[in-house]
Amino acid sequence: MVRLNKYLADCGVGSRRECDRLISDGVVKVNGKVAALGVMVSDSDHVTVNDKRVGDKQKNYYIMLHKPKGCVTTVKDDLGRKTVMDLIDIKARLYPVGRLDYDTEGLLILTNDGELANRLTHPRNEVNKTYIARISGILTENERAQLERGVLIDGVKTAPARVKILKQDQHHTRCEVTIHEGRNRQVKKMFEAVGKEVEFLKRVAVGDLRLGGLKRGEYRFLNEIEINYLKNV
Ligand code: URA
Repeated sequence: MVRLNKYLADCGVGSRRECDRLISDGVVKVNGKVAALGVMVSDSDHVTVNDKRVGDKQKNYYIMLHKPKGCVTTVKDDLGRKTVMDLIDIKARLYPVGRLDYDTEGLLILTNDGELANRLTHPRNEVNKTYIARISGILTENERAQLERGVLIDGVKTAPARVKILKQDQHHTRCEVTIHEGRNRQVKKMFEAVGKEVEFLKRVAVGDLRLGGLKRGEYRFLNEIEINYLKNV
């Protein structure tokens, strides 16, 4: 952590004294909020002067987005559909870590730290991902246990998973599903394998990081503790 005036000076904004004046004038924001003199910042903070980002071009961004339905998890879509990047107001080249389907919502990490993104998506290092899924009809205890033990998707058995039934009536079952693989449309295909259709899917956690109260379509910068956690999972 460094004092904001030093951070700005190091970024070439001006002398420390000039930077203090900019801070006093209220034109410096840290993570979207007008900064006070003396505040401490780190590389995980988003610092702007007159709403223009300042910082090393190599600065790494680590963002948690609450992806809504109706957008694709790519940087650019050939079909011209809305992408997750349309929701993020940062000029850096960010990449989604893993992917959520067009009609899936929930927690998505985006970063320009290619090394971390690769590590987190490598099959050897896959972290647990937790979803809330609403299924049509009743999921029987037998089907639930089958999903936990592993089912065949495209001829390959899924790794053990956790499936907890949260609520059930004769029309729907609401479950919490935790998997650590990241195969394409994995949760939907797992339920298909036991003859059930997923009507709604939301990712609520990646490892220990939880979506919490973040609203649909909104994002926030991860703090240093969260970034270090991801770097060490
Ligand atoms: N599993 C799915 O089926 N879809 C997603 O978007 C994520 C996990």
